[in-house]
Amino acid sequence: MIIVSLRQSKIGSFRKIFMKALDLYSRIEPLIGFYDEYEKLYAHYLEELSHFKLKTILDVGCGNGAMLMHLSKYYDAKGIDISPNMVEIASKKGVDASCRSIEEVNGKFDAILAVSDVLNYLDISSLQSFLKAVERLLENGGLFLCDINTLFGFEEVTAGSMSVDEGEQFLSIEADFNDDVLVTQIIFFEKNGEFYTKESAEILQYYYLIDEIKSLTNLTLLDVKEISLFDEESDKNMLIFQKR
Ligand SMILES: C[S@@+](CC[C@H](N)C(=O)[O-])C[C@H]1O[C@@H](n2cnc3c(N)ncnc32)[C@H](O)[C@@H]1O
Repeated sequence: MIIVSLRQSKIGSFRKIFMKALDLYSRIEPLIGFYDEYEKLYAHYLEELSHFKLKTILDVGCGNGAMLMHLSKYYDAKGIDISPNMVEIASKKGVDASCRSIEEVNGKFDAILAVSDVLNYLDISSLQSFLKAVERLLENGGLFLCDINTLFGFEEVTAGSMSVDEGEQFLSIEADFNDDVLVTQIIFFEKNGEFYTKESAEILQYYYLIDEIKSLTNLTLLDVKEISLFDEESDKNMLIFQKR
């Protein structure tokens, strides 16, 4: 019994560290940019969705709400994210976003999306639980669209270092890809009155093969689209699943 509760408290503290890291990410995202590339990715999703008759959509890991704004023009769209700060940023755009995990969502949707490598943020047991929730929340015939980073995407696009110096804000990012895990170290300095405050965080992302994701779900894989946002070679694969 004691072992169980110790384990639970450890999981609880990992979750807190992870959420703190995602919140820091939400604050530095404007310094990283790449908004044009994200728009290219959203266009791929919108094109794919346009081939189906859909009313209700859930955007999981909706981030700053940019995709949710597009979706809200055509569908009854809701977004969720586990970062409170991301949800606050999204809500200011007037979209329907709330802070919760997919396991906490009720209802049924015609389509569920996980845009911009949200699945790569999940370790294997979180991924299993996530996919189970997707199956539960989809209408029969409903679609699940997600994208995952390719090996090229991890090794050649996301790994590496960058820094941004904006005077009052300084950001340093170092990302190493080893043994199928990308470890991103973030260091952020921000001027507060006379002094600078320093915050740091580590975010892990996991490389998954398409077949691995397929083996973890009862959904049927309809199609795989190669996507190249940063290079000629594809850095992402978009997977289109259906509940049958
Ligand atoms: C790279 S961002 C993508 C955001 C957005 N989908 C977009 O296209 O701009 C990944 C997002 O996933 C969120 N996230 C990570 N793990 C999550 C989880 N288990 N459930 C919901 N959101 C999650 C993060 O907070 C972050 O906002």
